[in-house]
Amino acid sequence: MTEGKILIVDDEKMQRETLAKLLKMENYTVRTAANGTEALNIIDQFMPAVVITDFRMPEMSGVELIEAVKKKNPLIEAIVVTAYGNIDIAVDAMKKGAYDFITKPIDFEHLSVLIKKASEKRTIAVENIQLKEQLSSIKHKIIGQSDAIKELLSVVKRVAATDAPVMITGESGTGKELIVDALHNSSGRKGNLIKINAAAIPPELLESELFGYEKGAFTGAENKRIGKFDLASGGTIFLDEIGDMPYNLQSKLLRVLQENMVMPIGASMEHPIDARIIVATNQNLDEKIKSGEFRSDLYYRLSVIKIDIPPLRERKEDIPILAEEFCKEFANRYNKNIKGFTSEALQILASYNYPGNIRELKNYVERAVILSHSALIDVSLLPSELKNQPDELVEDGLEATVAAIEKKLIKKALKEAGGVQTRAAKKLKISERTLRYKLAKYGFKQPDK
Ligand SMILES: Nc1ncnc2c1ncn2[C@@H]1O[C@H](COP(=O)(O)OP(=O)(O)OP(=O)(O)O)[C@@H](O)[C@H]1O
Ligand SMILES: [Mg+2]
Repeated sequence: MTEGKILIVDDEKMQRETLAKLLKMENYTVRTAANGTEALNIIDQFMPAVVITDFRMPEMSGVELIEAVKKKNPLIEAIVVTAYGNIDIAVDAMKKGAYDFITKPIDFEHLSVLIKKASEKRTIAVENIQLKEQLSSIKHKIIGQSDAIKELLSVVKRVAATDAPVMITGESGTGKELIVDALHNSSGRKGNLIKINAAAIPPELLESELFGYEKGAFTGAENKRIGKFDLASGGTIFLDEIGDMPYNLQSKLLRVLQENMVMPIGASMEHPIDARIIVATNQNLDEKIKSGEFRSDLYYRLSVIKIDIPPLRERKEDIPILAEEFCKEFANRYNKNIKGFTSEALQILASYNYPGNIRELKNYVERAVILSHSALIDVSLLPSELKNQPDELVEDGLEATVAAIEKKLIKKALKEAGGVQTRAAKKLKISERTLRYKLAKYGFKQPDK
């Protein structure tokens, strides 16, 4: 342990030994050195947290020593002792990496405070390094370079190893399940990741799926059944579509969250489980809470940590890299020699809005890879809905683009209304007056009266 270890460097024996004695009385582990060279030798095996060095010493000055120490180990903090009034030297020492300075004669209480602060700084730096190492070791398949994805990953990394429940929200196809996998795989939990979709299982079966049942608990229960919570014990349970959890089960789930106990159907006693709970939803739970379909107390328990995945259209910069990665993946799977996209195809992919998010993009790429005969996927392999994008028109400026869209919609509405303006206006949800104004503005021919 480095904490609490101090190295004192001073060419004056009296000085260093007095200081050593005082610091030992404060429960520090102390070593002393008479000059810089000796100090550097000691550092290798002693690994101090803090070095206190006199400035004026023969051969190597205190500042030179600090530079050498920092080169060896930047985490070691140094305090330099200068003669009274030598502020320039002190400032120089701090520029070279000293934590602080103290003037002679040493005020011991002040020195004590400095040592504590320097040690704290060191501890924080060490913790940061450990955190970074932990961060870089996270296991995931999440692709993306947008700030949103970076922030998402940093949250995943910070919370993966905790036991706190996590609620993941995001539109369909945004990668919620991928986050679940990343959280579990980086959690260090040895048990299984068990996934269960509350919307896919009939409500009357959900309870036995989750909590299990005893033999003879109901007609048909010929054998005991282990619930998903037990299967996930020591690992993670993922409850997908939590918004569809039947109300009566919500209170049972709340109890699991509060007590870490489950009660199989027909059992006479609860038993403990240790499963990390992750839930996901693409519904607006606030509304379900308001309408009384979702328990607010359960919501608050589950959303201790909330991870919201933004839709792909809000992080379009991720589209090219996702498309290229999916292309590689599918080219591999279908054994095709495809290198990527033409720049025009990539541009079209990148300007679409993706209501189905990444899943939709992935489908388009898969289809294009299957259909492609050449090394680069071109525009002809992309579905037509991608090609008539208003985004392409934006080059003409906002007003012209909006006008073009308006004209198109008005024309369509008029056609569908058989040319009857009242009806067309209704379809467009605008007043007839507004419609007439727009017709004039865009130079539509007025129907003969
Ligand atoms: N950032 C990403 N990097 C790579 N692949 C992704 C990413 N996000 C999503 N995907 C892929 O997109 C598809 C859909 O993702 P996923 O199933 O996780 O979405 P979801 O949010 O759970 O959707 P739903 O609400 O419909 O269940 C998967 O094939 C997944 O691998
Ligand atoms: Mg999902």
